[in-house]
Amino acid sequence: MSIVIAVDGTAASGKGTLAKRLARHFGFAHMDSGALYRLTALAVLANEGDPAREADALKGARSIDLSRAGDPAIRTDIIGKAASQVAAIPSVRAALHDFQKNFLAHPPGGSPGAVMDGRDIGTVIAPDANAKLFVDAAPEVRAHRRWLELSGMGIGRNEAELLAEIVARDHADRTRAVSPLKQAPDADLLDTTSLGIEPAFAAALRLVQPRIDSALKASPRG
Ligand code: CDP
Repeated sequence: MSIVIAVDGTAASGKGTLAKRLARHFGFAHMDSGALYRLTALAVLANEGDPAREADALKGARSIDLSRAGDPAIRTDIIGKAASQVAAIPSVRAALHDFQKNFLAHPPGGSPGAVMDGRDIGTVIAPDANAKLFVDAAPEVRAHRRWLELSGMGIGRNEAELLAEIVARDHADRTRAVSPLKQAPDADLLDTTSLGIEPAFAAALRLVQPRIDSALKASPRG
């Protein structure tokens, strides 16, 4: 059994950055599950499909191009909104389910563990994860971070509009019927409102390290 860290949270809460840092710290593999939904959305829009229509969305989920997971084109808010739409469709989630489970069970590169970030990792994909974080921050702070991120990619956006989009997407993610965004009962809440990247990582490590230490002790690997 590999060791699993589940990092869930709201849009632009910093969960991806934290997940990456945790993976590097422990020498684990990392997967951003949001990229799967964003790639699905990209495929749907490239085919001029409707992300809210099951047939189009499912076709997109079955044709995602994983080599584009790092492509800045999937980071736009248009893709983010379409990702949230395809993510509300149960058959789309089912189509992406096994890939995520398999990544956690057999992390690439023979890593002893994996870190996955998303919305339903601690609740649905890996309910038995060794450590679970739920990352959140005040919406205004998240909108500002997203504005900085998009600016860095050369995409100029109005911050108030970004705030409205983030709030709307969180609402859609929290209220959908299937795998809604919510904190698992055994997840540790990490509020990064007043924490920059380094303090947020230090706080995450304080929560996660003891759990990983005991998991490593319980199942030492060779
Ligand atoms: O980066 P950001 O937090 O804005 O979004 P993301 O993690 O890339 O996820 C984009 C969208 O995919 C979310 O708004 C969710 O609707 C969906 N998603 C999901 O439903 N389940 C996941 N495990 C990950 C993402």
